[in-house]
Amino acid sequence: MDGTRFKILDILIRNRDRFISGAQLSTELGVTRAAIWKHIRALQQEGISIEGVSNRGYRLMALPDRLKAEYIQPYLNTHRVGRSMVCLDETGSTNSDARALALSGCADGLTVLAESQQAGRGRRGRSWHSEQGAGIYMSVVLRPEISPALAPRFTLSAALAVCRVLKGMEIPAEIKWPNDVLCRGKKMCGILLEMGGNMEKLDYIVVGMGINANHSEYPEEIREIATSVKLELGQSTERCRLTARILDELETLADQCITDEGYRALMEEYKANSATLGKLVNVIGVNETLTGTVEDFDELGCIVLRMEDGSVRRIGSGDVSVRNA
Ligand code: BTN
Repeated sequence: MDGTRFKILDILIRNRDRFISGAQLSTELGVTRAAIWKHIRALQQEGISIEGVSNRGYRLMALPDRLKAEYIQPYLNTHRVGRSMVCLDETGSTNSDARALALSGCADGLTVLAESQQAGRGRRGRSWHSEQGAGIYMSVVLRPEISPALAPRFTLSAALAVCRVLKGMEIPAEIKWPNDVLCRGKKMCGILLEMGGNMEKLDYIVVGMGINANHSEYPEEIREIATSVKLELGQSTERCRLTARILDELETLADQCITDEGYRALMEEYKANSATLGKLVNVIGVNETLTGTVEDFDELGCIVLRMEDGSVRRIGSGDVSVRNA
């Protein structure tokens, strides 16, 4: 997009629902009012709904429902996350794309978004339902300077970021350890964290997030276990704005993961939003299934289970289901 046109759009998005006069735009951008008018026409032709009222100026009414950098970035309040973006129509998996970009040295915070995925990946080798234009399929590259052992902290913080945003939209979101975000027991967001580096040094983390935004229905096999923002609120949500809010929270919480103090504070909020804390659960791990009461989540992101015999077990990864006592 032309530079001036991009700046006009940026100003209109940041001042959403307010009129900005042609005179103000022309002074701020150093071009004539006629040029402003031409750019506004071009933006309207792109499908952006802008109202123009004489003596008041221009006002953004609606953006096309497309995940594009120029529609998302004006909403962002971050320093790094989402400042560079790759927005794709279709891809295999945004996590694979992000990993390839991380390996070729991309910036901290680079975000890959896609309208659909042909091979969306979930945890434990599962696939991720990636309906065209309905969800938010995104992967963020982070390069924190921390020990690789602390990387799981980012899994938990990503879930909290999404939970915060959904709760801000009046959706009763909860977190199922490690990082499923649920609403009324159904999944609204799944997170897949992948990392690269060696035992001593972390090179990158890819935080892959699949957010069920505007799905109206699901294939039969997941209908009972999945929900979406649209299904919960009864109306579509603006995916670009939702994406920006999540990226804002992700950066804030990822920064908190760097220090023990920041992480402790984050975990208090995580626990307050946990769907499993204090409950009797089954944890299906790699080699065994354990049953116990969830007592805590520790500084390495493990779930802490109190077993029936009174002993304590810490588990780093697994699938949790709450048992009906
Ligand atoms: C899970 O709950 O199993 C995790 C699902 C993660 C899905 C997202 S969608 C964007 C990113 N790209 C992928 O291939 N997977 C993650």
